[in-house]
Amino acid sequence: MGNDGIIYHIGREWKRTHHCGELNKNLIGERVVIAGWVKKVRELGFLSFLDLWDKTGLVQLVAERDNGKLHELFTSLRAEDVVACAGVVRERPADMINADMATGEVEIVAENLIVLNRSDVPPFQVADEIRANEDLRLKYRYLDLRRETLQRNLEFRHGLSQGVRHFLSKRGFIEVETPMLVKRTPEGARDYLVPSRLQPGKFFALPQSPQLYKQILMVAGVDRYFQLARCLRDEDLRADRQPEHTQIDIEMSFIDEEDIYSLVEGLMKELFSSLLGIELEVPFARLDYSEAMSKYGSDKPDLRFDLEITNCSDIFEKSGFKVFSSIVSSGGVVRGVAFPSSEGFSRKHIGELERIARENGAGGLSYVKVSDGKISSPLEKFLSEEDVKILLSRFSVEKDGIVFMVGGDESMVSKSLGALRLRLGSMLEAVSSRKEFRFAWVNRFPLFLPSEDGGWEPAHHIFSMPLEEDMGFIDSDPGKVRGHLYDLVCNGTELGSGSLRVHNRQLQERLFKVIGIDSGEANRKFGFLLEAFQYGAPPHGGIAIGLDRLAMIMDGGETIRDYIAFPKTQSAASLMEGAPSEVEEELLQELHIKVIRDNRRNNKKQ
Ligand code: AMO
Repeated sequence: MGNDGIIYHIGREWKRTHHCGELNKNLIGERVVIAGWVKKVRELGFLSFLDLWDKTGLVQLVAERDNGKLHELFTSLRAEDVVACAGVVRERPADMINADMATGEVEIVAENLIVLNRSDVPPFQVADEIRANEDLRLKYRYLDLRRETLQRNLEFRHGLSQGVRHFLSKRGFIEVETPMLVKRTPEGARDYLVPSRLQPGKFFALPQSPQLYKQILMVAGVDRYFQLARCLRDEDLRADRQPEHTQIDIEMSFIDEEDIYSLVEGLMKELFSSLLGIELEVPFARLDYSEAMSKYGSDKPDLRFDLEITNCSDIFEKSGFKVFSSIVSSGGVVRGVAFPSSEGFSRKHIGELERIARENGAGGLSYVKVSDGKISSPLEKFLSEEDVKILLSRFSVEKDGIVFMVGGDESMVSKSLGALRLRLGSMLEAVSSRKEFRFAWVNRFPLFLPSEDGGWEPAHHIFSMPLEEDMGFIDSDPGKVRGHLYDLVCNGTELGSGSLRVHNRQLQERLFKVIGIDSGEANRKFGFLLEAFQYGAPPHGGIAIGLDRLAMIMDGGETIRDYIAFPKTQSAASLMEGAPSEVEEELLQELHIKVIRDNRRNNKKQ
């Protein structure tokens, strides 16, 4: 024992017999030893009580006042002190039963208690209902993780990983670890770089994903690969993005898209059934990219509600509403989305929706509101009665509802109505329902998108196979080439993404050329892959599903940070250990690195 009364070594007599949350009426009369963290101490007449916590839950200990030493010990304890207690389980008197507590029918009459460690006063109260500042919670992550919700989240994630491993292993997949120190290969985000000490001036990258390695494993004949793969990307963060994330990474040989769809549908079905008791309906809906964009204004549509975007260019083409008729005559479109009730749409609400449309590029937002068959709209004077009738019937809001319309070029109209649709959807009850999961596959994405420098860049990644019928456009009109690309979408979130891959050197080189990578650069950057393709690469394809996002969506969470043990902040920093940090000068020298300090701020002052 230390001078402070703390027991450093637990002897056999203090060996834990039960977890706190396990104690129940079946154990009445038994002598138990439990250990954990003090949550609360209170005195009541001749008794003092202590709530003790471990990851399984809370249990109440009681010390009787005539056990003077124990009573004194109890009252000396503070929240988060660590103790072990020996005592006898007894039934609580009827008026003391706590129905809100899993162990609320029993308590432990303490016989002896030892202090295993003391805690400083925690910077915030460790309890689920306390909403402490997020930075503070991240700095003291070990305290935050002691909260019941986060403990449960860690276990949920563990269950998910186990479920994935079990499902895939049973189907002939093997988990193969791919390197963390890799050759820099672009996947869309910035790389984290690692300097090589033994080869001055050279750098490894941390993998953005195991993409090329999993393809090479297919060349190696592995046939069915998976990995719960850590992926590192230096990108701007949002609630569903972290610099380190984990993917359920899958690759298979000799397959077509259907094999991926049925495998992933089976996986989701099993995970939802075993972890949530929810039976998903399969197969999932399928939408091709252009349909998703025109109907929902998004490549990751939330299908928990309809609110389909509908064309109404024809109605406005010859109307007296010049803004829209001139948009249509100059090749633009007018489309709309309708809410099935006019109630609750004050000027203020409409103003908010207009702001959303404008933020997404729209010049304005027009609407026609019908309530009890009575029309009100700023467009009323420009439209004939017949046109209004056609418009309302097209959106199925003849008697009651409101149609919002945007005109302009097609992609802007899709984008702004897509954003509007989401806002309107959030006003419907369906979206607040946590237990509804609407999955869909969005496929046949364009292979290339226009890049900022006027060229082309890959929409997913450059290793994806073009559709057979679009091969003829690769060199002449890349914007027209669609790929064997598919995204797994759930409730408006992209959960996964994948493709059938190119497995032939000549075709891969052609695709590189479209995005401005000539054969010299292709060899420098991807020579190893191109070379591998020359030694019997089988047709193959795969997908990666974000494990952190999947955990968040399944559990109805708001941020993936709650499903990652040690997440980073919005500025990609870890507040707990203070990373990233500066390093010793000698270390930098050994790595042949010279740091150029950013003096811009100093210069400005001068
Ligand atoms: P992609 O880049 O689309 O594809 O990533 C696949 C899935 O991983 C998740 N994800 C992320 N989750 C959290 N934070 C991030 N920063 C983050 N970035 C991605 C998403 C996403 O759908 N190699 C390809 C896959 C393939 O083609 O097989 C890839 O990485 O849920």
